[in-house]
Amino acid sequence: MAVDASFPIPGAVRLDDAQQALLRLLQSAPTHLSGAHLADRLGLSRTAVWKRIERLRTLGYQVEGSPRLGYRLAPEQDLLLPEDVLTGLPLQWLRGPVHHFVSLPSTNDAAKVLARQGAPEGTLVLAETQSAGRGRLGRTWESPPGTGIYLTLVLRPSLPPAELPKLTLLAAVAVVEAIQAATGLHTGIKWPNDILWQGKKLGGILTEMETESDIIFHVVLGVGLNVNTPAFPAPLAGIATSLASTGQTYSRLALVRAWLSAMDDLYGRFLRQEFAAILDRWRQLAVTLGQTVTIRRGDQIKTGLALDVAPDGALLLARADGTVERILSGEIQQASPSG
Ligand code: BTN
Repeated sequence: MAVDASFPIPGAVRLDDAQQALLRLLQSAPTHLSGAHLADRLGLSRTAVWKRIERLRTLGYQVEGSPRLGYRLAPEQDLLLPEDVLTGLPLQWLRGPVHHFVSLPSTNDAAKVLARQGAPEGTLVLAETQSAGRGRLGRTWESPPGTGIYLTLVLRPSLPPAELPKLTLLAAVAVVEAIQAATGLHTGIKWPNDILWQGKKLGGILTEMETESDIIFHVVLGVGLNVNTPAFPAPLAGIATSLASTGQTYSRLALVRAWLSAMDDLYGRFLRQEFAAILDRWRQLAVTLGQTVTIRRGDQIKTGLALDVAPDGALLLARADGTVERILSGEIQQASPSG
């Protein structure tokens, strides 16, 4: 495999320029392209083309070959090439650059390395698969190749660290709005930032930051979304889902672009002090407000009525003794209609 030694993350695998050019040619063709045609367009021998195609296949790309017709991308190959991500999107804040990897341990970890090296706000790290994808609360994030979205955005807001949960909430709103725009499906949010579809987890957000003198130095905001994942291994099968559970497949590129558009808009509004309106939208999308919930944080378990979310993102939990508790982090394990 083409392990990229120039990128300072062990295990990072990227497409080289020739592989990208080959994919681009195959993508642009409505039908098969002969080895001779590809060789001519790329200025390579037919053997060199064949070798590159073999390498793409090793990397997980589905390139079909027919001795009579030549090569084509399998119709089910959902291509996510870096140059397509931002093209034509009128973004104000999140304008790249885009770093695309065939494989990374974790896009959040790669984004942290880039951010420490001075990567600008709006830097996007995308991976086709992650070997050590991380979820909240120290969990693993299953990241099978080519079927999900695994991305991390670098943000550099000049804010105190206590403002971080607001960014996570607005990113969740952006995910729900992007799914609606790209697929027409109406998903919901479970506090703090699980994306739910038909009661199961479709996606999540992992926001991490580094601070300097009590000001955020940079934020890495990671999004994982199960798009065309056909099935999940036990024990995930009972709690996780993907958009493909509708029986259709969806373009990851369209979803990433829709998320960037929604995120750019919401981030701009956040910087213009319009977070209250974003929080109202979050409330509309929240599926657990008004329900009796059980929340776990480490060994602690608390039950109460999920009243509302506070302006700083804390969940307001009405306990049986009449007190209202602010819950800053944890996981809702169970929810049921109150009353
Ligand atoms: C959660 O537990 O709900 C958050 C999951 C976040 C997963 C994403 S996938 C892209 C980014 N890189 C990671 O290692 N994690 C996040």
